[in-house]
Amino acid sequence: METIGIFYGSTSGTTKSAAIEIQKAFGKNADIHDIKDINIDMIARYTNLIFGTSAWGIGDMQDDWEDFIDNLSGIDFSGKKLALFGLGDQDEYPESFVDGLGTLYCRLPDKSVVVGSWPTEGYSYYFSLADKDGKFVGLVLDEHSQAASSAERISRWISQLKKEFI
Ligand SMILES: Cc1cc2nc3c(=O)[nH]c(=O)nc-3n(C[C@H](O)[C@H](O)[C@H](O)COP(=O)(O)O)c2cc1C
Repeated sequence: METIGIFYGSTSGTTKSAAIEIQKAFGKNADIHDIKDINIDMIARYTNLIFGTSAWGIGDMQDDWEDFIDNLSGIDFSGKKLALFGLGDQDEYPESFVDGLGTLYCRLPDKSVVVGSWPTEGYSYYFSLADKDGKFVGLVLDEHSQAASSAERISRWISQLKKEFI
């Protein structure tokens, strides 16, 4: 498999920790970058990409993603695969659960390259922008309400990505 570039935005560290766990699961085959420290060339060089964001209110991505997202239109995504993951809190924010993930997906310049959709079973929420036609647009992790499930979810998602990535 081609090298994977993991790009995350994280305010209090949970999305960063999840990104590190995802990197570990791929082993030497994955690099990890904080979205606030990068330029578009660093994304463009990878064939397999993973973007991760937390949620900060109705429709809101993590701030560093909000600052960066418009730069994605300068990248040619053809020939790439892109998987997304999102962090949120379904107990405190059941009406905008993992909205950051949904907004990140909505604002991608090329959605045709997205892989790694994830079942909504096992989560409890009223509304989520990340829920498209009964599936999440990427892996959903909740370190506040369901922390005990994260390791197994990451492991299952990575098995799926190993088939979907190039
Ligand atoms: C002010 C505030 C607003 C939040 N809004 C949402 C939200 O709308 N939906 C959600 O699922 N989680 C929400 N969260 C929970 C965060 O997404 C969650 O704590 C996440 O793990 C933070 O990740 P980070 O530290 O990597 O940025 C909110 C948290 C705070 C403090």
